[in-house]
Amino acid sequence: MQASPSPVVQRIGVPRETFPGEKRVATVPDAVGKLIKLGFKVAVESGAGDAAHFSDDSYLAVGADVLPDAASLWAASDIVLKVRPPSADEVALMQDGGTLIGFIWPAQNPELMQQLTAKRATVLAIDSLPRTLSRAQKMDALTSTAGVSGYRAVIEAANAFGRYFNGQITAAGKVPPAKVFVAGAGVAGLAAIGTAASLGAIVRANDTRAEVADQVKSLGGEFVKVDYEEDGAGGGGYAKVMSEGFQAAQRQMYAEQAKDADIIITTALIPGKPAPKLITAAMVQSMKPGSVIVDMAAEQGGNCELTVPGQTVERHGVTIVGYTDLASRMAKQASTLYASNLLRLVEDLCKAKNGVAVVDMEDDAIRGLTVTKDGAITWPAPPLKAAPKPAPKPAAMPAVEKKGSHGRGAPLPAKNLAIIFAVAAVVLWFIGAYAPAAFLGHLTVFVLACFVGYMVVWNVTPALHTPLMSVTNAISSIIAIGALVQIAPPQSGIEGRPDGLILWLAFAALVLTAINMFGGFAVTRRMLAMFRK
Ligand code: NAI
Repeated sequence: MQASPSPVVQRIGVPRETFPGEKRVATVPDAVGKLIKLGFKVAVESGAGDAAHFSDDSYLAVGADVLPDAASLWAASDIVLKVRPPSADEVALMQDGGTLIGFIWPAQNPELMQQLTAKRATVLAIDSLPRTLSRAQKMDALTSTAGVSGYRAVIEAANAFGRYFNGQITAAGKVPPAKVFVAGAGVAGLAAIGTAASLGAIVRANDTRAEVADQVKSLGGEFVKVDYEEDGAGGGGYAKVMSEGFQAAQRQMYAEQAKDADIIITTALIPGKPAPKLITAAMVQSMKPGSVIVDMAAEQGGNCELTVPGQTVERHGVTIVGYTDLASRMAKQASTLYASNLLRLVEDLCKAKNGVAVVDMEDDAIRGLTVTKDGAITWPAPPLKAAPKPAPKPAAMPAVEKKGSHGRGAPLPAKNLAIIFAVAAVVLWFIGAYAPAAFLGHLTVFVLACFVGYMVVWNVTPALHTPLMSVTNAISSIIAIGALVQIAPPQSGIEGRPDGLILWLAFAALVLTAINMFGGFAVTRRMLAMFRK
């Protein structure tokens, strides 16, 4: 019998980025080692990692080949990993029918899409990842890039701002903390809020999506609401364009914040739309001299009217930073995270770990990413199949059926309550008058135990019911030990020797109870640990 031929191992290539000023590299030595473990050969263009502080030697050390120039790198690579979209010259160097993975922005780059299809390329645009798919989060390069950029925006602000961020009391006098206002609390905004708060500033933030208020608070910021009832959630974690009324109310609130803030960081954006102009020239003029604005949306036209994309300018005594390459200014960190996102993607493409990538169009994440396949444009991907909606809540029961069935928390009518109390009082009087005194004692304990148990369980949030059950299990085991002592015959007491069978039964019961008891406590501990940060 003839063995089936083993598939030809593919080579992954990483060229040096050619976009002016770009310092990032698409993969780092740590990730290269893991790509080789997946069965691939890896080649890196000489100097590709230099600007991000990854030398050729560090790539050679993990088993990559280092090729001298772009032409040899592109020609030798079946799959190319890149950060920025390729230039026309780079597409020309690409193998016919090759695969490319990187940022492409197909909506903004129709010409590039034509060039790639002419090369019969298969292109996975990391910017087209379906971000709402939780399985795809490990590949979400937009999020990791925005996180790094949000952090860097604060560092740029601190650099341009002539004061401390935190308040200080020094021998020379009191220094108030800086006030930072963040417009837009998406990924970049939240990273900026966390960073500014950790530096000791007073941080306030606003977003049109009310759902982010808790996230702002959890990072140490204060959410400032616009005094207008309208939610900006437009689905998929993105915002929608707001009504005129909302925008007017928002402008008024931003004008007040601008007067008070020392630093404004703007990140507001709705994908596919020009950046909303939130900070007007008049607001800039109203800011204190020496204040700073970092406009992260500069590339989409800016959230501030006076931003100059790619530059830092001074207007009315306010420094306005419009850098569009914040992630590249943290090249080592951004490259490391990006390389990890791409590694997770390649792992999904090569589940057989045989050095061959398979673009499975049935896989939702891969389908979303694939913008051209074997030369045909496959972008935009069809919308994701919606998760099944929860079954609609049953309509309210008719009033007649409701009678006599009281849900949890629904108070009993006063008349019924009075009848129950009267019956209970009569029964208790009979027991008190005729039952032995010991029985009355036990009954009192039993009724109180039921009452306390009811109050304890009903006041615990449903999420904690499972740990509660395991701890009550443990406690009830202790009660079992008490029960054993109670049922032992008189001769098994402290004075007499217990009967052999009873002794063994008691021993077995004790062992089992101990397992239940300590097991219950251990389970509770582990479960509660899941709720602790
Ligand atoms: P995102 O979509 O996660 O966040 C944008 C946020 O803005 C959303 O929370 C949205 O609700 C909010 N928003 C939209 N319209 C608003 C309005 N009128 N008022 C208040 N909030 C509003 O986007 P992400 O990833 O956080 O990126 C934010 C911006 O930063 C984008 O413009 C992106 O291009 C830019 N960016 C810039 C970089 C640079 O180097 N300058 C690097 C990375 C991202």
